[in-house]
Amino acid sequence: MALANTRESYGWIAIALHWIAAIGVLLMFYYGFQAAGAGDAGDRAARRLWMGLHISTGATLFLFFAARIIWAYAQPRPVKPPQARWLNILSSATQHLLLLALLIQIISGPLAVWSGGRAINVFDVVSLPSPFAAENEGVHEAAELAHLIGRIILFWLIPLHVLGALKHVVLDRDGAFRRMLYPSKLKT
Ligand code: HEM
Repeated sequence: MALANTRESYGWIAIALHWIAAIGVLLMFYYGFQAAGAGDAGDRAARRLWMGLHISTGATLFLFFAARIIWAYAQPRPVKPPQARWLNILSSATQHLLLLALLIQIISGPLAVWSGGRAINVFDVVSLPSPFAAENEGVHEAAELAHLIGRIILFWLIPLHVLGALKHVVLDRDGAFRRMLYPSKLKT
């Protein structure tokens, strides 16, 4: 079984981590936006519930998100499909920025909780105590700002990334999308 990447194809580990992170990020957006909506409506109980789900899920998926980022750089990157050079530059830039934004989210999220003087409560099963001796307003504000920047990057670049993938399925039919489903090569 091809677990690792080659210069032609993604291996099973990269493929699994890609889809776990993709579903995980969408779930994080869903819970985050539900929490924001509840906050705007002044429903504090609902906000607490959605935020609890957001934080618990984020903590549960933390290692998968981190592994996704590390594996992307620890492994060879398969060759780009045959298309205009500027499209390959755009797709590479998008992929690097998505990984950077994910890194920002998984660092700023926990920091925002801990610097607020709270422990990270994971589904009421595990509690990860804050490394801060007391609330730290400066770190808290910086973490919230970073979390906002990270989610703006993700919010705009995920649709661009999906659009690029669809281009390969519908227009190019070059096997570029199939490479992220199972280990396979580009069509020649
Ligand atoms: C992995 C991708 C992530 C995405 C896409 C994401 C998205 C969001 C969104 C949309 C909000 C807005 C909620 C609001 O406006 O009230 C939010 C807030 C928040 N998230 Fe995340 N999040 C991610 C990861 C995490 C992680 C891993 C944690 C902690 C374990 C976390 C903790 C928080 C906290 C404490 C807030 C409220 C404070 C703030 O707005 O900065 N997030 N996140």
